[in-house]
This record gives sequence, C-alpha cells and structure tokens, in this order.
Amino acid sequence: MLYQLSHVRSAPFNDRSPSVRSRTIAERSIGVQTLGPVRAPPFGAPIMINRRGYPSAMQFLTSPSAASVGHRAVWANGRLYDDPAEARVVVTDHGLVAGAGVFETMRVTDEGPFAVQRHLNRLSRSASALGMPPPDHARIRAAVDAVLDGQVMSRGRLRITYTGGPGPLSSAPAYGPPTLVVAVEATDFPVASTAIVTAPWTRNEHGALSGVKSTSYAENVRGLAYASSRSATEAIFPNTAGNVCEGTGTNIFMVFGGKVVTPPLGAGPLAGITREVILEWCEVEERDVTLAQAKAADEVFLTSSLRDVQAVHSWDEMSYSQSHQVTDQVTDTFARNSLANLDP
Ligand SMILES: Cc1ncc(COP(=O)(O)O)c(C=O)c1O
Repeated sequence: MLYQLSHVRSAPFNDRSPSVRSRTIAERSIGVQTLGPVRAPPFGAPIMINRRGYPSAMQFLTSPSAASVGHRAVWANGRLYDDPAEARVVVTDHGLVAGAGVFETMRVTDEGPFAVQRHLNRLSRSASALGMPPPDHARIRAAVDAVLDGQVMSRGRLRITYTGGPGPLSSAPAYGPPTLVVAVEATDFPVASTAIVTAPWTRNEHGALSGVKSTSYAENVRGLAYASSRSATEAIFPNTAGNVCEGTGTNIFMVFGGKVVTPPLGAGPLAGITREVILEWCEVEERDVTLAQAKAADEVFLTSSLRDVQAVHSWDEMSYSQSHQVTDQVTDTFARNSLANLDP
C-alpha cells in the first residue's frame, strides 16, 4: 500500500490566505464545482498539505492532464482499470435495472480510507436487508488496497458498490453472481459552513429501504437538485411524523442551550458512520425534533463522510450565528480523534 506522504502544519481557524482564494478561482475557471473557500480546520488542528503547500488533490482538479496522473481508478469484479471508462458491468445488472444494490462512500486522505471496518459492517447490514449474499470483506479490502495503491490524493471519495449482478428485466431477484465495484476519485475539501433548505418531500421512516444505503438513490438526487436550485447544498427531509430525519447525503444535528441533539434511527435516517463516531466521542442526545423546533435551534450542523462536520449558516428563511461554538467543539473532537485512529 502506498499513500502520498505529506507535511503537517497547524493553521489558524480563519485562514483565508490568498493562495486559498486564488485556488478557488482557478477551480471555478475550469468548471470544478466549488461551493466556497476551502475549509480551514479548527485552530491548532493539523492540516495535510503537499510539498508545494497545496492540498494535493487540487493539483489533479486543476491539471489539464488529470486523467494521466492516476487520480481515479476502478476495480470491477476482480480487475483493476486505470481508465474508469474501460470498466464494464453487464447491462442487465440488477443495480441498473432495478436499483437493487447497496453501496458505501468513505473519505480518503493521505493517511488512507477512514473507518473501513464500520463501512464494511454497514454494507453487510444493507445487503442483508435486501436479501443479498453477504459481501466478502477480505475481497473488498484487497480491492480497496488495489485502487488506492499509488494514488496521490489529499482528499478523495472511495465508493464500494455491490449489486445482485445480472438479473431479469423486472423486480424479480437477480440471478447473480453479485457485482462488486470499488472506485476512487479526488474530491474538493468541504467548506466550513453551508446553506440548507427543507425538501418538499418526506422520508418514509417505515419504508422497506429506511436506513438502508441502497443504490436506489434517485430521491436524494432529486432532493439535492432541489437544494442546488435554491443556492443551498443540502435538502433536509422531514419524516412522515413531521419530525426532522436527515439530508440527501448527511445526518443532521441541532444545538439547544449547549446540548447537541440528533434524530434517533427510528426517525428514519441512515446510520451515518460520522454520526456514529460523533455519538461515541461527544455528548449527544438522540430524540425526535419537529421541523419547526429544529429550525429554531441555536446551531445546526451536518455530518457525512465527505463533509465531516459542517456548520449550517442558513436554513430556509433562518440564519444562524457565525460563532457556532458547540459545532466547533464537535468539529475539533472529530478531527482530532479521526486523525489519531483511522479505523475507530
Ligand atoms: C442519506 C444519507 N444520510 C446520511 C449520510 C451520512 O453517512 P456517513 O457519515 O456514513 O457518510 C449519507 C452518506 O452518504 C447518506 O447518503
């Protein structure tokens, strides 16, 4: 296994250096989606930079020869492809025909992928919920090592997709054997805070796919497009009881009088891995919160493998203070603990 070695430095909390700003502009000019300045870590927290002083993934995002520097790789059913366009699955794959499959997305940094075992465990739970054969963890770990081998990436997204494999052109079960794809790509760093909106649709906490990370993600695709069209980066779904559930790809937390609260799994959210470790590392109460109560919180933040802990500065018509102290503490704890233990 070979990951890029980086220097570590400490950055002040509100580091908005000209290099950070000009890099953001450079990304915009080549059409890379950038939602704001690169996130600065909390005061004193180490950030990873490469030898030229930039998060190394940025080089690939801004380089015209990005495809040639191995920033993306795909492993599909036992074969590694440097060019993702060459990887193939059959057109009758049940993941494609019926959205019958499960997946995981994990964060990759210079140190490697984060919380692999927890992600594999959730993949197995999701597969079991869909009646699929248990995924082979050792095989997936070998595929993860294969796609990451030689990658130079300060920040990336590693995706494991597992479907029933070839099947009928209907909702009847797949014939198999299962399809397994592991892919990695460089991503941007998450921004420090964001705007969210309420989705006009509900999450069904009683549905067959509630809490399952299935490839049937079109509801989330629609929700995210709805948010984008309103200059937000996330849409929050209430559940059928009118309580807050989750975002299209994030869990949601609120702060009331210094206390952190998040909806329980019974409210229908995915059991996010970031949510899970934050529940272990910080004091958090799991309880139902109505949409109106949630929006009236002192602070609101989102969590996910790609956003880590992200403050919310506006939710529909509501605005939140820029000095989100509790959110900063959670951010700090998450950053420190996840750096200290890559597979907690
Ligand atoms: C619907 C949904 N909720 C929550 C999350 C956050 O989960 P995690 O922290 O494991 O990334 C995700 C992640 O993609 C998601 O898709």
